[in-house]
Amino acid sequence: MKICVVGAGYVGLVSAAILADWQHNVVCVDHNEQKIEDLLAGKLPIFEPGLQELVELNRRRQYLRFTAEMAEALRGCEMIIVAVGTPPAENGHPNLEDFWAVVKSFRENVGNNVIVMIKSTVPVGTGEAVSLYLNEKVSHTFSVVSAPEFLRQGTAVHDFLHPDRLVVGCMSPEIREQMKELFQPLDCPKVFTDWHSAEMIKYASNSFLALKISYINTIANLCEAVGGNIQDVAAAVGLDHRIGQAYLKPGVGFGGSCLAKDTQGLIAQGEVHGVNVWMFKDVLEVNYEQRVHIVQRLTEVLGNLKGRKIAVLGLAFKANTDDLRDAPSVTIIAQIIKLGGLVKVYDPVVDSSSLPDAISVSTADNPYTACQGVDAVIVLTEWEEFLDLDLKRLQKSMNAPVFIDGRYLFERKRLLEAGFFLPERPSSSEWPVVQSMISAR
Ligand code: UGA
Repeated sequence: MKICVVGAGYVGLVSAAILADWQHNVVCVDHNEQKIEDLLAGKLPIFEPGLQELVELNRRRQYLRFTAEMAEALRGCEMIIVAVGTPPAENGHPNLEDFWAVVKSFRENVGNNVIVMIKSTVPVGTGEAVSLYLNEKVSHTFSVVSAPEFLRQGTAVHDFLHPDRLVVGCMSPEIREQMKELFQPLDCPKVFTDWHSAEMIKYASNSFLALKISYINTIANLCEAVGGNIQDVAAAVGLDHRIGQAYLKPGVGFGGSCLAKDTQGLIAQGEVHGVNVWMFKDVLEVNYEQRVHIVQRLTEVLGNLKGRKIAVLGLAFKANTDDLRDAPSVTIIAQIIKLGGLVKVYDPVVDSSSLPDAISVSTADNPYTACQGVDAVIVLTEWEEFLDLDLKRLQKSMNAPVFIDGRYLFERKRLLEAGFFLPERPSSSEWPVVQSMISAR
């Protein structure tokens, strides 16, 4: 099949590379000329395990090519996959400007009987609106398919190839058969439904994941206040198969470009239609509070943050990505700096120059230098390499050994054995000890 993928972001690039791997003739187009230039030079715009190899292989085999020329990319294609970003707008709805600009270009540039597959996350009703718009002119027949993507950054290639389910919203039995054939390599339940349901499945899934994380963070805060080891609690609760272990990792809360944006998008759709959506507002509120909570704990244990040196291990919003969109680290570092703290950061993949200009930090090229002489260390991304750290060495090099594990990455016992103070409770007899260590500096 001759396929044009519009958008060279996480979803677009991964879809294009895998469809090319399945020996379709794929062209991936993006209006960002720099991105395309980089791709043509063999440089991927994102860090995503396994993707570079897949792209290189399929370019060599000539199943995959890149261009910034939309009209040329669309020429002769049988299917167009729309995978452009739909970032949040001020009003909570996604911004569909790029999405519609792309869709509008199809009427002028493609022939008859083209399938338009929507992979961008769009509000319920968009598939129908796209179909009405594209088929307005009698000379054209476009078949619109809503096929939301469920891949996660950091494991995108694996997730695309091994999804829990495939969701396809389409209105014609013939297109349904074509979609069955296209996705035949995927061994998973395949849900065929209407456009509206397919779009809602995406919002419902992301908001449920967000809800699970805010739920476990609320339980974690309760454990901290009343006693109880949240790691044991989460593991045991998750063993109930009706609940499941996934998305019960407590910590600094969710970041990234999707969970918060789509929960917000669901709230906005509920409000437009007069549906009570308060529970999702709480999910977002709890999530934001987790970031504030870290800074509060730090302030409590150190007395105040003026002139205090803080090491931050991990900037990315999650491990195995270089993405900083809505990363908890950005909010937390900004708050620490606002309160007078001095921040030194280390992340194995993210360059601190990607932080917003207003955030001034110093950068270390390994965790040990980051922690040298600091008053506290905070872990904000669950990079696996942190697990191999020599915690005793880290502890000894610090001015005051305060450890805030914002990801519950380490076993509590291991941190205590290394001699760290873990500021878990609002008031602890250890705080004056820590504060005297700092003043004795
Ligand atoms: C999310 C969904 O998981 C994907 O299914 C979806 O396709 C994607 O959004 C999207 O809409 O494009 P993603 O944002 O890449 O994927 O990352 P997740 O792995 O879901 O993690 C989101 C955030 O939640 C991260 O900050 C992560 O650290 C945090 N998280 C995750 C927790 O705090 N606890 C957990 O137990 C799990």
